[in-house]
Amino acid sequence: MPFPVILRTDVSGEVEAVASDVEDFAVGNEAFSMVRSPSFGDSRANAQYVTAPVSHVAHKPAELLHIDAAAAPMALLTAWQFLFEPDHDHPNPLQPGLHRPVPLEGRKVLIIGAAGGVGHFAVQIAKLKSAHVTAVASTTHEAFLRDLGTDAFIDYTQSPPEKVARDLDLVLDMLGGPSTGRFLRILKRAGALFPVFLGFRDTEETTARGVTVSATQVRSSGAQLQELGVLLADGTIRAAIDSTWPLEEASAAHERAAKGHIRGKIVLTVA
Ligand SMILES: NC(=O)c1ccc[n+]([C@@H]2O[C@H](COP(=O)([O-])OP(=O)(O)OC[C@H]3O[C@@H](n4cnc5c(N)ncnc54)[C@H](OP(=O)(O)O)[C@@H]3O)[C@@H](O)[C@H]2O)c1
Repeated sequence: MPFPVILRTDVSGEVEAVASDVEDFAVGNEAFSMVRSPSFGDSRANAQYVTAPVSHVAHKPAELLHIDAAAAPMALLTAWQFLFEPDHDHPNPLQPGLHRPVPLEGRKVLIIGAAGGVGHFAVQIAKLKSAHVTAVASTTHEAFLRDLGTDAFIDYTQSPPEKVARDLDLVLDMLGGPSTGRFLRILKRAGALFPVFLGFRDTEETTARGVTVSATQVRSSGAQLQELGVLLADGTIRAAIDSTWPLEEASAAHERAAKGHIRGKIVLTVA
């Protein structure tokens, strides 16, 4: 990408101007968006003013606070597009076929990194779709995750989840990468492993065990955010806020992120 770059993708705010061919939004409307993901180098979110293609923008329900709307887009769309509806036919450059979600109702789902941005939304979506959810996180997140509806909790600082869980239909792994292969052996035959952090290569073990490994790359969708905005506004899905920082203190927000153990999302506020 060409430097310097403006970081981040998620925004919630008020429409300041619209192009002449835009019919669905007017100046003064409240809107939220994941802007231009996964492209790089264009206008991004850590700014007072942001431009976005209209197809990436959703109306913000009046009952939904800007802070919650700003917290949601990328993490919630990632969880939704992995678990429920990709809503696009763009192949993931790292795998031959399209990502296909799997049935969730009554299925045993293990969520690694469950307290983080993507994870806490994934827990809620899996519960919404009637899965049995086991959340994996460090000790202090247990009460938070149980409050979100998780059925079982594994503290990875006490027990490796691959030693405790078994007979799973789906593992959604926010850590992903090469270490994700440890979960293949605790899946049922015909189960699925979705590494959200890309980089795991299909192996002979995957084929031998009869399981699927699949991932996608989240893509902007104003239409999906419109639908999800309703669930956020009525409390069906909650955005947890780890911390907020003024935009001018974005570097402090990055320092917070670097310490890890994030619960939900970090949000920058614009005065
Ligand atoms: N494919 C895509 O399109 C896409 C889109 C968005 C994000 N991502 C990727 O998805 C990953 C997650 O993103 P995020 O925004 O949710 O990150 P995040 O908010 O930083 O959350 C990560 C969570 O993982 C937990 N964690 C750390 N080590 C762990 C371990 N060994 N076992 C279980 N949990 C552990 C952390 O808390 P505790 O350690 O306290 O439990 C934290 O809550 C990132 O790698 C990101 O790049 C991919």
